[in-house]
Amino acid sequence: PRDASLAGRHVLVTAGPTHEPIDPVRYIANRSSGRQGYAIAGALAALGARVTLVSGPVALPTPAQVTRVDVETAREMAAAVEAALPADAAVMVAAVADWRAEDAAGQKIKKTGDAPAALRLVENPDILATLGRGAARPRLVVGFAAETEKVTEHAAAKLARKGADWIVANDVSGDVMGGASNAVHLVTATGVETWERLPKDEVARRLADRIAAALR
Ligand code: C5P
Repeated sequence: PRDASLAGRHVLVTAGPTHEPIDPVRYIANRSSGRQGYAIAGALAALGARVTLVSGPVALPTPAQVTRVDVETAREMAAAVEAALPADAAVMVAAVADWRAEDAAGQKIKKTGDAPAALRLVENPDILATLGRGAARPRLVVGFAAETEKVTEHAAAKLARKGADWIVANDVSGDVMGGASNAVHLVTATGVETWERLPKDEVARRLADRIAAALR
């Protein structure tokens, strides 16, 4: 590693979307390329951390020195996060689907020619809130918030609601999704720090440095 400031630390990262099956060929998902989360996992490993990356379905290579656990659904992600504890820090970057189909059909739902089939949704577990308020809470818990308006206000509310120490708020009103750069605000109990638009790799490096400093 170029700097071993996270040597001996275990950091848990979630990334990517989750896919919630409707039937064997259809699913519900949030838009997410996984790029920012993967960059963060790589940057943490480059500082010497042992990194567990719990990943939804993405088309990205595993960063060097990172242990990757692949999952599909939010409930699988929640279980994988639980299984990866304890951790010194957690960075929850995944775009978890808020809802899933109450009963995923075992067979492909057919068009009947009549009205479309109704889809009954139930809420998924909030993985970040569960971790942030749980007994095995990592010392530092970082969440992400994709917002299209009132970015920092929504993020500050999320901080308290989810029991996180920091929320990295990103303004996704532009073309952040799948893109190479990101404009973020670091929201903590003491205030809001606005970073200039940066390549996702650079956002990741800066965040990893801040995490190393916070755990020191
Ligand atoms: O509430 P919202 O989805 O905007 O919160 C985003 C943050 O919460 C992200 O850090 C995301 O990874 C996490 N989250 C989660 N489980 C959910 C929903 C969001 O861990 N079910």
